[in-house]
Amino acid sequence: MAVNMKGKSLISINDLTLEEIYQIFDLSQSLKLKKLSDEPHPVLAGKTLGMIFSKPSTRTRISFQVGIYHLGGTGMYFGPNDLQLGKSENVSDTAKVLSRYLDGIMIRTFSHQDVIDLAKYGSIPVINGLTDLLHPCQVLTDLFTVLEKKRTLRGLKMAYLGDGNNMAHSLLHGCSKVGMDLTLATPSNYKPVAEIVNNAKENAKYMGSKIEILEDPVEAVKDADIIYTDVWASMGQESEAQERRNYFMKYQVNPELVKNAKDDYIFMHCLPAHRGDEVVNEVADSDNSVIFDEAENRLHVQKAVMALVM
Ligand code: CP
Ligand code: NVA
Repeated sequence: MAVNMKGKSLISINDLTLEEIYQIFDLSQSLKLKKLSDEPHPVLAGKTLGMIFSKPSTRTRISFQVGIYHLGGTGMYFGPNDLQLGKSENVSDTAKVLSRYLDGIMIRTFSHQDVIDLAKYGSIPVINGLTDLLHPCQVLTDLFTVLEKKRTLRGLKMAYLGDGNNMAHSLLHGCSKVGMDLTLATPSNYKPVAEIVNNAKENAKYMGSKIEILEDPVEAVKDADIIYTDVWASMGQESEAQERRNYFMKYQVNPELVKNAKDDYIFMHCLPAHRGDEVVNEVADSDNSVIFDEAENRLHVQKAVMALVM
């Protein structure tokens, strides 16, 4: 089965059907093989992706730029001070103008509503490259990476430790959609948004899987196939880093904690990692760690997304 996704925006994994998610994975695999075998694949020749960044980025920026180039198209980067957007021009006018020039927009910004509005007022697909609320491209990539490593998604248990942030929210969407068990352990004052948790629980019920929100990291990691963590202070929260460290220290992924997981568990992190905080070198650099495969796969999965929607 193939689903026509042309013109569709990727703002949240929750907007994708299970068929669309697996279609993205199938094409990611095929594009990865083409890249590895040096087979050209200029399926977006002549097309232009605008890339708007209000926050810094290593992986997202470079993987989109290189990805659109592999597909035969062009990427245009706009940094925080490059556009009139947010200064002398509103989101809806910007969306309408950009739609007259570009074939797609990738945006990383603070306000999730701005991304929704960009898609609503424009007429070209918008890809969410991270907001304060969600990071869908990362989690699609993470699930693709788990599929490569474990050959299945259903029936596995992921334990996410740390902040109930954009990564936690997209993991709730993604894992529940594909039927993977997800246990989150966060301090009581850093829990994920309740509406997203409830939505994930409904998705999980439909898929026959389980979503748990705990505070105890040891219980969360018990028999996990995957341990996932992220920074304790996200971009924009740098001034809270020290205060947060006090709450989060017991969620650190270290050799003692990972003993509770399955022997063949994999360690995942979206990166950048703050080594010594949420994870220590002994885990991040261990044979169980797949963090650089995740980083590589951003390229292949986002190429698939662009090829399907642009
Ligand atoms: N994981 C991720 O999105 O990395 P960057 O912030 O470097 O883009
Ligand atoms: N939660 C992190 C993810 C970075 C990819 C942040 O928003 O900074």
